[in-house]
Parts: sequence; C-alpha cells; structure tokens
Amino acid sequence: MRPIYDSEHGQVWHGDCIEFISRGPRLGEVIVTDPPWGHGKEIAARRGGRLREYKINYYLPETWNEVPEWEYFYAMRRYKFVCFGGNYLIDMLTGRELCVNNRKKFDELGTIGDVRKFHSENPSHWIIWDKDRPESVKFSSYELAFTNFPFESKMYKYRWNGAYQEEPRHDRKEEKFHPAQKPVGLLAGIIRDIFPYCEVVIDPFAGSGSTGLAAIRTGRRFILIEKDEYYAYCSKYRIEEHLRQGRLF
Ligand SMILES: C[S@@+](CC[C@H](N)C(=O)[O-])C[C@H]1O[C@@H](n2cnc3c(N)ncnc32)[C@H](O)[C@@H]1O
Repeated sequence: MRPIYDSEHGQVWHGDCIEFISRGPRLGEVIVTDPPWGHGKEIAARRGGRLREYKINYYLPETWNEVPEWEYFYAMRRYKFVCFGGNYLIDMLTGRELCVNNRKKFDELGTIGDVRKFHSENPSHWIIWDKDRPESVKFSSYELAFTNFPFESKMYKYRWNGAYQEEPRHDRKEEKFHPAQKPVGLLAGIIRDIFPYCEVVIDPFAGSGSTGLAAIRTGRRFILIEKDEYYAYCSKYRIEEHLRQGRLF
C-alpha cells in the first residue's frame, strides 16, 4: 500500500486498514474514528415513501457499511481511541466486558432526554453528540462515541440538520461527500478536549476524511485509511481543497 496523499500535514491511504493498525501505536498517536455500524439498510427499510427510495438508492450500491470483523477492533484496542457508533459496537470495542451492562440499556434509549439520564448514570467512557434537531425530524437526534479509557463523559451540542449546520460564521456549509459524514468542528472539539497532547490522529475508517480536516484545524498530523477508492479520493480532494483555499475551519 502506498499513500495517495502525503504532505507535512499527513497522509491518506487507500486500502484495508488492518495492516496499518496491527503495527500498534507509536508515540503521540491516537485513533478518532467512525467505523461502519451496519445500520444503514435497516434504517432505510424502516422508513417509508420517497425518503425510503432515496435512502435505499443511496446506500445499497455501496459496501461502505459492512461491519468490520473482530480482528480490526482487537488491533484498534491497542491505541487510545474515540469511536463513534460505540453503542452498536460495544462488545467488540471492549472485548465484551461492558456488553452485558450496557447493550440492553442502550437499546432502551429513545430521546435526547434519555441519553442525558444515561450519561449522568454512566459517567465515564462516553461522548454524546446532540445534533440539535427538532423532535419532528425523523433522523436520529444524537450519536454516542466510546473512549477506551475512563474519561469524564461529555456532551457536545453541534447542529447537523441538512442546511442547518453549526458555525454560521462560515461562508458556506460543509459539503456532503459521505452518507455518514461527521462535522469537522465536532471532531476538532473532541480532539482538542480529549487528546490535548496527541500529535498524530489516525482514522482507519476515514470515509470522506473529516478527521483529517479536524486534525489540521487542531494543529495535529493525520493518517487516514479508507478501503473504498471513491471515498479515499474524496478525502484527498477535501484536504487539498482546504489547504488550497487556505480556509481556517
Ligand atoms: C461510517 S464511514 C466513515 C465516515 C467518516 N466519518 C466521514 O466523516 O466521512 C466508515 C468508512 O469505513 C470504510 N471502511 C470499512 N472497512 C474498512 C477497512 N477495513 N479499512 C479501511 N476502511 C474501511 C468504509 O468504506 C466507510 O467509508
């Protein structure tokens, strides 16, 4: 494997991440990532009408949403990490220790109010992203990320609702390249708060490269690995565009 992008800011690799993360962490490296959770098709199938057709067409031709095997999470657990979708992947992320306690509770969470309660009752390991969406919006109103080290859980309120995005000071909203794209500002806040001393942020399931942009924004180097060629080149494009325009995210 060779990087398709390589500069003083970081690298983008197109390929399977297992080889890379199996080498284990080097000094100053952490993982901030968002692996496939395998829920896209299921969610699409539950929705009706035009939205259903749209979602199915959007997700089905692609393989981006297949949940990785255990070996990937086993390798990842050697690093300090923040992992989105932690509630869906909890057994693999923890080697099952937390599974019995938490899986059932997560399944019962319904609203952002429930999540706040869960947060206060389980005050370590969790990051809650409140998407600041009106109750009427059908998409999920929050997401949970898991850290593999004890940490005073934190809630981030960051609007992510179609045209309504946080950070109105930007001249234009973040363009959408990936169905599971994360906001750069949210990831930058997480990197700053949770890994104040890290030097290199690795995202082994990089998608369209939002973590790379967040690393640049926080003055860290990045290593992005993405197995889908189209999304790997999206990452490269977003990073080059960002640096070309000299925009300070
Ligand atoms: C949920 S998406 C990440 C989206 C990303 N957070 C963003 O903002 O664009 C997960 C990505 O992991 C990629 N992926 C899945 N298995 C992989 C593997 N073994 N190695 C590298 N990338 C992989 C998928 O192609 C998909 O694009």
